[in-house]
Amino acid sequence: MKKRIGILTSGGDCPGLNAAIRGVVRAGQDHFGMGCVGFRDGFRGLVQDRTLKLTPDVLSGILTDGGTILGTSRDKPHRMLVGGRTLDMTDAAIETYHRHHLDALVCIGGGGTQKNALRLKEAGLNVVTLPKTIDNDVALTDTTFGFDTALNIVTEAIDRLHSTAMSHGRVIVVEVMGHRAGWLALGAGVAGGADVVLIPEIPYDVDVVAKAICKRTRAGKTFSIVAVAEGAMSRSQAGTVAKLVAAKDRAKKKGEKKSASSKLDEFHREHVNHTVDLTARLEQLTGLESRLTILGHLQRGGTPSAGDRILATHLGTACVEFLSEDMYGVMVAARGRGAEPVPLEEVAGKKKLVAPDHPWVQAARRVGVCLGDEI
Ligand code: F6P
Repeated sequence: MKKRIGILTSGGDCPGLNAAIRGVVRAGQDHFGMGCVGFRDGFRGLVQDRTLKLTPDVLSGILTDGGTILGTSRDKPHRMLVGGRTLDMTDAAIETYHRHHLDALVCIGGGGTQKNALRLKEAGLNVVTLPKTIDNDVALTDTTFGFDTALNIVTEAIDRLHSTAMSHGRVIVVEVMGHRAGWLALGAGVAGGADVVLIPEIPYDVDVVAKAICKRTRAGKTFSIVAVAEGAMSRSQAGTVAKLVAAKDRAKKKGEKKSASSKLDEFHREHVNHTVDLTARLEQLTGLESRLTILGHLQRGGTPSAGDRILATHLGTACVEFLSEDMYGVMVAARGRGAEPVPLEEVAGKKKLVAPDHPWVQAARRVGVCLGDEI
């Protein structure tokens, strides 16, 4: 019997999603005779049974396009806003799956998607995921597609910021996405030759950062580039977060999860503008005119790099191979030069963060980059 598979993209978009969709559908249809149906706008489209026919015409030319032809959303089947109310729509998702006589559902997404896919697996569906995100923070995969393109975009931005920082003798702080992980800021900081790189995994001391900049001034360098991950935190902020996380864990054990987790959420909501304060503080401490550039969604837009096209095509086609062998409940991870199935239970709820002794951290220190913890 020929298999029928559904496919959706979920979470923030990123370059390489279309290459992955094309990889899954082409390999599925042409090599295994599978029938494929696309669901629009992530899990919301699955719940509402809104589909896109994945005909050769629709797939033609999408390899090089950014974004996703299926559309995406951050909706979760088990907690979906419907008519102003948050409802558990898992049953509706299951009904759609059976209405289309699916043998499996391919969910392409980041950390949140792995958790949602695991829930659907536990509800009885055959699910396989592919890891995507510019943040590169999905556990148990060497990398995620979307990351390489974003890394190139941020590196080019840092390259460009150099000439304007130098011309004016300024400190330019550049805020880089990455959620709670520092991969993008660190990678682009090293590749672009940033002078300071601040990442969430290494809490910083603003006085140390200012001293590093002043040291450059004394050495005759009139400008500095400071690459800051959006999730970077000072030592005292990291201390606050550690306390809030501990309180959340204690409250969870007692079954009063809500108030403690909302305090943590509030911290992260208020932390959003931290680079504005950091830039002002550095101007004060160094006496150098300072400017902030927030790269924002530029980092997720546009055509995927060759590396992301290859990775997405590789993982997408490997996914179909696994489906053909009835292998379900796994994420198709990039491992070395190959693709390996990893049980969703091992991935969901975990994050891959930058280890303080990661080779990129060591390389950064060796070329004199200040990571905010020491000069
Ligand atoms: O996960 C990708 C990402 O771009 C993060 O780097 C960032 O924190 C977040 O998404 C932004 O989300 P949104 O596009 O929903 O504002």
